Amino acid sequence: MSFQMKRRDFIKRSGLSAFTAWMGSSMILSACHTEEDMIGEPNWIVEGSFDRTLFIPDVVKSNASLHAQHSVSELLKERSSSTLSYANGVLGPTIRANRGDTVSVSLQNGLSEETNIHWHGLILPENMDGHPRDVAAPGGSLHYSLPIIQRSGTYWYHPHPHGRTAKQVFMGLAGMFIVNDAEEAALSLPSGEYEVPIIIQDKHFEGNNLDYSPTEDEIMTGYLGEQILVNGQHAPFLSVASTWYRLRILNGSTARVYNLALTGGKPLIIIGSDGGLLRTPETVSSIILGPGERLDVLVDFSGTDIGKEIFLVSNKFSEFNVQGRQSFTVIKFKVDRTVASEFKLPSTLSNIIELNAGQAVNTRSINIAQTVSDEGGHGGMGRHSINGRIFNMDRVDEVVSAGSTEVWELDNSEGDEIHPMHIHGVQFQVLERTGGRNQVIASEKGWKDTILIMPKEKVRVIMTFPEYKGVFVFHCHNLEHEDDGMMVNYEIV
Ligand code: C2O
Ligand code: CU
Repeated sequence: MSFQMKRRDFIKRSGLSAFTAWMGSSMILSACHTEEDMIGEPNWIVEGSFDRTLFIPDVVKSNASLHAQHSVSELLKERSSSTLSYANGVLGPTIRANRGDTVSVSLQNGLSEETNIHWHGLILPENMDGHPRDVAAPGGSLHYSLPIIQRSGTYWYHPHPHGRTAKQVFMGLAGMFIVNDAEEAALSLPSGEYEVPIIIQDKHFEGNNLDYSPTEDEIMTGYLGEQILVNGQHAPFLSVASTWYRLRILNGSTARVYNLALTGGKPLIIIGSDGGLLRTPETVSSIILGPGERLDVLVDFSGTDIGKEIFLVSNKFSEFNVQGRQSFTVIKFKVDRTVASEFKLPSTLSNIIELNAGQAVNTRSINIAQTVSDEGGHGGMGRHSINGRIFNMDRVDEVVSAGSTEVWELDNSEGDEIHPMHIHGVQFQVLERTGGRNQVIASEKGWKDTILIMPKEKVRVIMTFPEYKGVFVFHCHNLEHEDDGMMVNYEIV
């Protein structure tokens, strides 16, 4: 903690760039270890005691009334922090709906600034999507009527007012949105107490309170916190029975990437990602999850001894990036009872019709590696852009036809930063990743709405645009990058 404070102060005082330090780190690391550590250090995670029972947000069906407001919550054990929330406390309720429903949500803006809600991953009419221009003034309200026309999946919701998204999400405004359908129900997956939402977010505190104050360097790397919260609580645990569990995991952090794994040699059995179930279960020992992405995972605790503790951790994934240089613990599972279970892992989960590049009427190259200079840019480092453009609310940058299939090549091959790219209003499939990790990873084999693109990578995605015409946004889900302008409007005509 104190070391971390020093690092922030050091960077603030000296004007040195963590970004520059990271870029040069492969060269500096061995030669000049001490000096490098002073500048390019990660925000070291502060581990907790994992002795608080995991908070599970309330579930609401069909009609939700959300009140964005200032609130107080015990984010850190036995300490009160002021937060923002959609209810009382932290975060918002989990909204659950069936395919075919129309969900009605009223949003009351109890903040002193504009807000709205984007329904991340849902395919909705333009005026329901939560475009940054559709906001409620302080004291105002918005009404959303959401026709659920898509497959089951773990979606989520959060504010989207331009320039303020990161701060509002960081302060606590976010919630899960689960869609169920008949295909999923037929699998009899673990449910009720055996189906658990896991919203992972890192936070930075000053004293007892959340502090959102990114430096210019932190707008480049992303604002990384030292405390890992699950469902708004630092270091909780869940007592589990020795049976199968379904974890719906959301990375709701503004910028932090996790490399999730279980201790004790337990695999993660991935059954779904952003846009619902995969074709078949994918068993992995670890999986990378970027901001905005979701994972639907089964864990088999059966046969595990009573009293055994198993941790969900994030493993190191890079020696050079400030994000990937530390392993840490996210949540503890404590097996404390036996229960008989008939559940058997299905070999097939879902029918996914594969889109292929031959169906595409157009291929767009999208350069996400460029920063552009701008008055008010970051210490000469420029601002984040998409194809050299910074977000302009009134300018449409790409026009696509309703019902048409396109390939978008998201190109970070010249880039040095991590960009989780999100396209509103559509679900896509991942065709290929070249450079960097050079492969489509297990969780990317289904429908996606957010795709993590590491430095040096180029990813090709394919999608068929829906019949909903209008202007939607496409942006980086590193929310510091998004607020910095790494977002464009695209129009479906
Ligand atoms: Cu979850 Cu436009 O974002
Ligand atoms: Cu980015």
